[in-house]
Amino acid sequence: MEGTRLLISDLDGTLLGDGEALERFAEWFLAHRTRMRLAYNTGRFYESVRDLVDFTPLPEPNVVIGGVGTEVRLFPGGDRVDGWPRCVGPWERSGVQSALAQVRELEPQPDEFQAEFKLSYYADDLACAFLVELRRRLAALGHAVEVVYSSNRDLDVLPAGVDKGSAAAFLASQVGLQPGQVIVAGDTGNDASMFTHGFRGIVVGNAQAELKSLASPDVYQSEADYADGVLEGLAHWLQRDPTLVADAH
Ligand code: GLC
Repeated sequence: MEGTRLLISDLDGTLLGDGEALERFAEWFLAHRTRMRLAYNTGRFYESVRDLVDFTPLPEPNVVIGGVGTEVRLFPGGDRVDGWPRCVGPWERSGVQSALAQVRELEPQPDEFQAEFKLSYYADDLACAFLVELRRRLAALGHAVEVVYSSNRDLDVLPAGVDKGSAAAFLASQVGLQPGQVIVAGDTGNDASMFTHGFRGIVVGNAQAELKSLASPDVYQSEADYADGVLEGLAHWLQRDPTLVADAH
């Protein structure tokens, strides 16, 4: 059996949230880094991830998927990987923005969280029916978009075909890995798309209901929270993968 060779993990609420657990993860990863590549897949942009790596025990990744799947950049140089984002329809950013300006429930996030392929809003406690209607209205106006709602607060609107899951699948194919050789970890709504590509999934114990409800043989629900939950999930998947052993302890 081929070894599992890539961990793609969310940051806030997944690897970040418990400093001591993060230290344990960093130690584990150092012992495995020659056999496993690491990518962070986050709503943050590249520069923000770089600052975290500089100022916290978060290990250096090989790649950062930033802005909810809208950018794929090599670490530490920051070069963008050619061919991404791969939009499956037209992306008329200003038209989408104008349409959403009429929706009073949505408050635009600050400019630093906006980008060419990402429009982000705050909107507390949206009902499922509201999201369905929002998607319907945007589609009726001819906009091909992904609407991603996380943490009962953050609403991201992205080009159709672009989200954390499709970006993770793009990265896996770029490095020549099959989905079964990739482990993904997350805690909230914007991570849900990572669990639909045949990867081996880890949902951390502190996850939101939207991920806790995932029941699939490809998804391991950890008891432990934050980075300890990632470690628990890694232990679960790697015991099924004898080719991946630690280089040092
Ligand atoms: C991060 C981003 C924010 C986004 C959220 C959920 O917090 O900064 O713009 O809405 O993730 O994806």
